[in-house]
Amino acid sequence: MELEGKIAIVTGAARGIGRGIATELARAGCDVVIGDLLQIDEIAADAKETVARVEALGRRALAVQCDVSEPADCDALVASAIEQFGGLHVVVANAGVMNIATVAETRPEDWERVLRVNSTGTFLTCRAALPHLTAQREGSIVNIASIAGLRAGGGRSPYTASKFAAVGFTQSLAAEVAKDGVRVNCVCPSSVRSQMTVGELADVVGLDDLGAADEMWTKVAEKRLPLGRSVEPEDIGQAVVFLCQAEMIVGVALPVTGGEGLPTK
Ligand SMILES: NC(=O)c1ccc[n+]([C@@H]2O[C@H](COP(=O)([O-])OP(=O)(O)OC[C@H]3O[C@@H](n4cnc5c(N)ncnc54)[C@H](O)[C@@H]3O)[C@@H](O)[C@H]2O)c1
Repeated sequence: MELEGKIAIVTGAARGIGRGIATELARAGCDVVIGDLLQIDEIAADAKETVARVEALGRRALAVQCDVSEPADCDALVASAIEQFGGLHVVVANAGVMNIATVAETRPEDWERVLRVNSTGTFLTCRAALPHLTAQREGSIVNIASIAGLRAGGGRSPYTASKFAAVGFTQSLAAEVAKDGVRVNCVCPSSVRSQMTVGELADVVGLDDLGAADEMWTKVAEKRLPLGRSVEPEDIGQAVVFLCQAEMIVGVALPVTGGEGLPTK
């Protein structure tokens, strides 16, 4: 798909990976509608910054209040893109939350919250966009799953289950709608610098200062990753742009890891 002049929705794009996706789609020529939890002041301020970065690249941007776990919000997000920007071609279901706890520590309400945002939210975002994309017989959907959706580790079972669900849902939807001209894929990032992960690092090592945790993140990545640098939100954005442009890629779960975990000897 040629992205110049196309219109994209990115959920959870106020900050982090979503912002990196929004800016890379804008760099490739898309106008971007950001769906996020704007009722939270800090998120609303972050969303303004994403809008400013997209506009600085010469594209239109709009931030819309959307809780992806609410069907009506997802429908309204799609309607905003069509009514205010005149169409919809690219949908990125990126919004997600994390919960770190053993199974024994995980409360049922934590399990439900993570599954509701990460899995149900992905389904609701795609479902809202599908009638428009299939009717025009053109569209690219990219869901942001995780490397945790391909191989499980301990200590975050709801997150892992939610991302396995996102990968399975992606493949199932891809099989359903390819005949209608809509391609569906997902990206599976490893550890990417964002509020989610740097905040987690700060908690683990007991740092109050997020700036110090961010510096530590850089140093650890320089030592640990084969490419010698951290995976950044824009790296995930480039993978999304690639999947939107690559006409024959359907139903894949693309790991984007910077080589993390590869044996180096
Ligand atoms: N950072 C990583 O290392 C990493 C790795 C693999 C996958 N991911 C996935 O990438 C996505 C983005 O993660 P991130 O690291 O940028 O996280 P983040 O916490 O920095 O940003 C998440 C964004 O999603 C929004 N959001 C949360 N719940 C929402 C809801 N119900 N409705 C709408 N928006 C909501 C938040 O307000 C925020 O803007 C998530 O799906 C995450 O699971 C992240």
